[in-house]
Amino acid sequence: MCGIFGCVLNDGNAAPIIHAALKKLEYRGYDSVGEATLHNGELCIKKDQGKIDEVHKIHNLDDLPGNLGVGHTRWATHGAPLEVNAHPHVDCSGGIAVVHNGIIENFVELKLELENHGHVFKSKTDTEVIPHLIEETLKANPSLSLTDAVLETVRKLDGSYAIAVISTKEPDKIVCARYESPLVIGVNENAVYCASDIPAFLPLTNRAVIIEDGELVVLSPEGFEIRKIADSSVVVREPKLIDWTPQMAVKQGYPHFMLKEIHEQPACLRNTLRLQEHYLDLMATFLDRAREVFLVACGTSYHACLAASYMFSKLAFLATYPVIASEFVEQHGKSVNIDSTILTVSQSGETADTLASVNCARERAATVLGLTNAIGSTLTRVSRVYIGQQSGPEIGVAATKTFTSQLSVMAQVALRLAKKRGKVSQDEMDFLAEKLDKLPDTVEAIIQTQEEKAKQIAKKYKDAKTFFFLGRGISSATAYEGRLKLMEIAYVPSIAFPAGESKHGPISLVEQGFPVVFICPKDGTRRTLIGNIMEMKARGASIIAVVEEGDEEIKKLADEYMEVPKGIPEVLSPIPYVVPLQLLAYYMAIEKGHNPDTPRNLAKSVTVK
Ligand code: AGP
Repeated sequence: MCGIFGCVLNDGNAAPIIHAALKKLEYRGYDSVGEATLHNGELCIKKDQGKIDEVHKIHNLDDLPGNLGVGHTRWATHGAPLEVNAHPHVDCSGGIAVVHNGIIENFVELKLELENHGHVFKSKTDTEVIPHLIEETLKANPSLSLTDAVLETVRKLDGSYAIAVISTKEPDKIVCARYESPLVIGVNENAVYCASDIPAFLPLTNRAVIIEDGELVVLSPEGFEIRKIADSSVVVREPKLIDWTPQMAVKQGYPHFMLKEIHEQPACLRNTLRLQEHYLDLMATFLDRAREVFLVACGTSYHACLAASYMFSKLAFLATYPVIASEFVEQHGKSVNIDSTILTVSQSGETADTLASVNCARERAATVLGLTNAIGSTLTRVSRVYIGQQSGPEIGVAATKTFTSQLSVMAQVALRLAKKRGKVSQDEMDFLAEKLDKLPDTVEAIIQTQEEKAKQIAKKYKDAKTFFFLGRGISSATAYEGRLKLMEIAYVPSIAFPAGESKHGPISLVEQGFPVVFICPKDGTRRTLIGNIMEMKARGASIIAVVEEGDEEIKKLADEYMEVPKGIPEVLSPIPYVVPLQLLAYYMAIEKGHNPDTPRNLAKSVTVK
């Protein structure tokens, strides 16, 4: 997730406006920043790696001439956070500049085709193909307008994009277009603005126009014109008045980042399905060759590893050992060796315990693989191969969207490994890949249909002293994650364990009305899980079940339930089944008067051991 901004002023300098707008978009990404303005037919660009304030201090982002320009604050997905990969990106002539938020899925083939036509690329980004495509389109048909050249270009792009394009060819215009990545227009008497998000221009105007998927917008001193990308037809849409405060606007109207990020999961899961095949295959290859595989992480990332161990075992018949990072050195420090592979998972890529495990493994010549949300983080520098999960910055301390994205990446790697090992048929591969593709819509449906129920359950149980979270098989990972969410943001002491463990001790805690959350997908564990529900009910427990919709048998046994759409394969079930638990934890925190974004005693990234 990155932030883009552009403005056409009737008078005055665009650069300071762009700089201020990018500061408002900084929460969308902050590893590099850049601006481009047009002045006297010249393109003037300043960009570098680093946070906005750092880059401004070195380059003075306000000191660019011209009343028209674009800007970008980056969260790296393709290409490390380096000056060369910072936006704006330009064509060979240096006359076209583009800023982009999204992921171009077919950039490799487009880049090859453009290189064969003599184009020279500087960066490792997917974005850079866009200015060169526009240039190639205009070379083939010089009479085209910039607008028509951009129309032809975006019709060739697969993936998600919100772009803003400026060119010395038509120095009074900005041409924007969007598909899946957000784009809004702001209007006042002195200027017209385009941005990823309303906060960018809210201090300048509260008159906004939301641009829909498949639309292109031309900004000029006369205002804005919206076209449909498909057929260039003009769309008429009036600005609406935005009544958000700037604080609300940064959360896109949500009361907290955590709720915004829970709701962002469908979009993040779509982006996670746009990973570069090459890195998924490479990771699968390393895992295939390994003599032993450890999955090492902390907290929520560890729960993703726990779920992944079931995926690798059930799909690829690969035994993997999930290990809590703070225990890795003690437990395996002596045995890990050149034949070991450790796949470390860290949203921040900076967790001290996880990095300590990596250092130990590297000292003993083991192979280190990484999965992270932060390109350019330490983990990406110490991993032999890493995958960036492309979830965009997660501001809430509690991991939500990054957890489901981690699971999606692991499922994709496990599927490739299974295929490489000949453990699944092509039909099974196609079936699971299709189900994985449908998960963003499934999660969207759960949020839409179960949020109200989660709110009600939180209200009903807000005074409960303790919760159990129980599941069997891969759902035990979901149970651990649901428990962590409730503990860390609602401060409710909770206990999670595989449901089969109840009679080995924990069931002694159960008394009348004791809330027990069961995760109950219709998988191979269902029959025994029903037995576990019965044993809890027999002791007076209050059953809260996350069930497959229409599962009347379990719904009858439950005091409360939340439903998940049918047909979720067992190995993918933690992704949808965790969402009701995220919502339950969020609304429990609200019920208890806590701020879910800033839970006490916790930090977003634990960089100390
Ligand atoms: C999860 O909600 C917590 N914020 C915490 O457990 C977190 O998952 C853990 O600290 C690991 O962080 P990482 O993924 O950045 O390494």
